[in-house]
Amino acid sequence: MTEETKIMFVCLGNICRSPLAHAVFESLVQEAGLTNFKIESSGTTAYHVGELPDARMRATASEHGVKMTHRARQLKPSDLDHYDLILAMDNENLSNIRRLAASPEQLNKIQLFRDYDPEGGNGAEVPDPYYGGAAGFENVFQIVHRTAGHLLRTLTGQGA
Ligand code: 4NP
Repeated sequence: MTEETKIMFVCLGNICRSPLAHAVFESLVQEAGLTNFKIESSGTTAYHVGELPDARMRATASEHGVKMTHRARQLKPSDLDHYDLILAMDNENLSNIRRLAASPEQLNKIQLFRDYDPEGGNGAEVPDPYYGGAAGFENVFQIVHRTAGHLLRTLTGQGA
């Protein structure tokens, strides 16, 4: 049996980007028939704790056949022990998460999500769609879907 890989996706509010990455990655894992992943998401802030994802994000996900049912929760320091990979949606999230790290081991688990994007890297971010229009949510979906697929292929050893 393959050991479980635990992944935590993190954004600011946990109502747009990270719950989308959570839902998309989960659907890709299910489609691939895999069971050895534990997936969660959270926000660096507590602004929206307990809320469903933003209705605009849910609508865009739904257009692509992805259902989002997560309730927002805040990242806590113990998550940095529990999860194997902590993936930040933007550089501000990344530095805020790094500030919670209590050891080099924890620090090593924290990365930018788009480091796994074949069209990303070099500090590329998932843009915050919260204050923009509908096109921003579709753009976020495309980035997240592409990156989540590449992340899964990387973690399952199926290469670039
Ligand atoms: P998220 O988007 O970090 O992708 O969930 C945001 C959600 C809420 C706020 C900003 C961004 N806000 O300012 O409340």
